[in-house]
Amino acid sequence: MGIKIAPSILSARFDRLGDQVTEAAAAGADLIHIDVMDGHFVPNLTMGPAIVESIRPLTKVPFDAHLMVIQPEIFIQDFAEVGVDDLTVHVESDHDVRKTIRAIRDAGVRPGLVLNPTTPLDRAIPHLADVDLLLVMTVQPGFSGQAFRYDVVPKIRAARAHIDKEGLAVELEVDGGIKIDTAPIVAEAGADILVSGSGIFPDHVAANLKKLREVAEKAARHRP
Ligand code: DX5
Ligand code: ZN
Repeated sequence: MGIKIAPSILSARFDRLGDQVTEAAAAGADLIHIDVMDGHFVPNLTMGPAIVESIRPLTKVPFDAHLMVIQPEIFIQDFAEVGVDDLTVHVESDHDVRKTIRAIRDAGVRPGLVLNPTTPLDRAIPHLADVDLLLVMTVQPGFSGQAFRYDVVPKIRAARAHIDKEGLAVELEVDGGIKIDTAPIVAEAGADILVSGSGIFPDHVAANLKKLREVAEKAARHRP
């Protein structure tokens, strides 16, 4: 199985968001990554279910929604109804993680857990049998275009090792500062899904995506 690439539309041009989604889909995006921020969990406001609903008919590519909100459980139903495929929630949010994961699953959506750069892998381990995705942040969430945090790479390796050792059906996703120079690092460390915002949008979407996939797949072949 190859590496999946998930363009983050937070870096798209919002005055032509639909065209940018269509462009990413035509370029072979495996997922469309949607960053949802509430202005409390992170100091930024982005998009909600109404935006997702308006772009959903444009493509069959699965939508991967990343909830950077204080209370993820109150938005599950709304996102499920507009057709997201994945909902990832932070362990650092203010909620009963087990309950939220179950509610996402019950809504017919693939649940995932997210770890901020400094949050240890241990916080996710008790839940890994119940989720389909583990998203490791390589920037402090809130904004696209930040620098990749190299100090998170050992956690990606540890997550890969744990998933493999336990035989878990969890895809390992990495998000933040992923570009041509850093994609090989996370691919070699064991990531299955690479999120990239400013590495793909807003211009030369197809060429950027192709190059990112090329360097990531090459590096993945060198995994230990
Ligand atoms: C950060 C978001 C990321 C971001 C990625 O809070 O979760 O998905 O859009 O953007 P880049 O790839 O530019 O770091
Ligand atoms: Zn994200």
